[in-house]
Amino acid sequence: MHNFTGRIAVITGAGSGIGRGLALALAAEDCDLALIDINPAAIDETARQCAEVSDIAVSTHECDVADAAAVERTADAVRGAHGVEHVNVLVNNAGIGSVEGFVHGDRAAWELTFDVCWGGVYHCCRSFVPLIVAADEGLIVNVSSVNGMWASLGPNRTHTSYSAAKFAVRGFTEALLTEMRLVAPHVKVAVVMPGHIGTNILSNSQAQMGRRPTANLAETEAAFQASAPTTPAEAARVILDGVRAGRWRILVGADAELLDGSLRADPEGAYEPSFVEQLHEQGAFVGLIDPV
Ligand SMILES: NC(=O)c1ccc[n+]([C@@H]2O[C@H](COP(=O)([O-])OP(=O)(O)OC[C@H]3O[C@@H](n4cnc5c(N)ncnc54)[C@H](O)[C@@H]3O)[C@@H](O)[C@H]2O)c1
Repeated sequence: MHNFTGRIAVITGAGSGIGRGLALALAAEDCDLALIDINPAAIDETARQCAEVSDIAVSTHECDVADAAAVERTADAVRGAHGVEHVNVLVNNAGIGSVEGFVHGDRAAWELTFDVCWGGVYHCCRSFVPLIVAADEGLIVNVSSVNGMWASLGPNRTHTSYSAAKFAVRGFTEALLTEMRLVAPHVKVAVVMPGHIGTNILSNSQAQMGRRPTANLAETEAAFQASAPTTPAEAARVILDGVRAGRWRILVGADAELLDGSLRADPEGAYEPSFVEQLHEQGAFVGLIDPV
């Protein structure tokens, strides 16, 4: 899709970070928006900022994307709010992070991470893809992660749930690419694999897990943001430039590009401490990955 003007885009996780960045970038191109988030105050704020950019139609929808029935109701609400039987763009961006252990960790937290990061993409595709297929031109953008190609945050932490979910997002999206060419060639598909982006993902994830913020959360998140090589607004620009260029595999950030190259050069060594040492030596993932 080369031109978003006059189109309708659905964005999940639009209340913060990359999702808000995409909403503002699409608003600047006069694309109507249906903004979805579990946090109603956060999407109201995104909608307010979008209204400052353009007088497009913006609807807001409080919804937990891990809840299939809620997503189905939200798809009905989007059709009603915009008076349409189609949408042009679906960005499955909502996600939370956790390093919950599989063996010793809290099973509920492990499953919540998986259900939001993978289940959210699955449920939203189930409910919104028929509306995308009904459009004259459609685009599905699924936000995976570098953890959709590398299931690790370094040798000192477990990362099973988020990685499993992000590999699922990538695998599903890559398979959907062929399916859409077969059954709905007017629908394009892209998988996004961001590196470290300076967002509020740490505090938003803690909040959704019902955990009280740890004493140093604000400080940790400030450091996470300060050390990120890419801002949410820059990530949004890379994603939109990528789909405009017709790309289906969109890496965001020099760190993601570096990791991609390193994995191709040494796939068997990917989970060795020396692999992470080399990434650190090249300046990648300073804030995202523990030192060895
Ligand atoms: N920040 C990074 O370094 C990074 C790196 C790779 C991938 N990602 C991915 O990018 C996406 C966006 O993350 P971000 O960094 O902008 O985080 P963020 O926390 O700043 O924004 C995510 C938004 O999603 C919403 N959300 C979370 N769970 C939800 C649910 N169950 N239902 C509906 N909305 C929900 C949150 O309320 C929040 O507004 C996520 O899928 C994340 O996994 C982020």
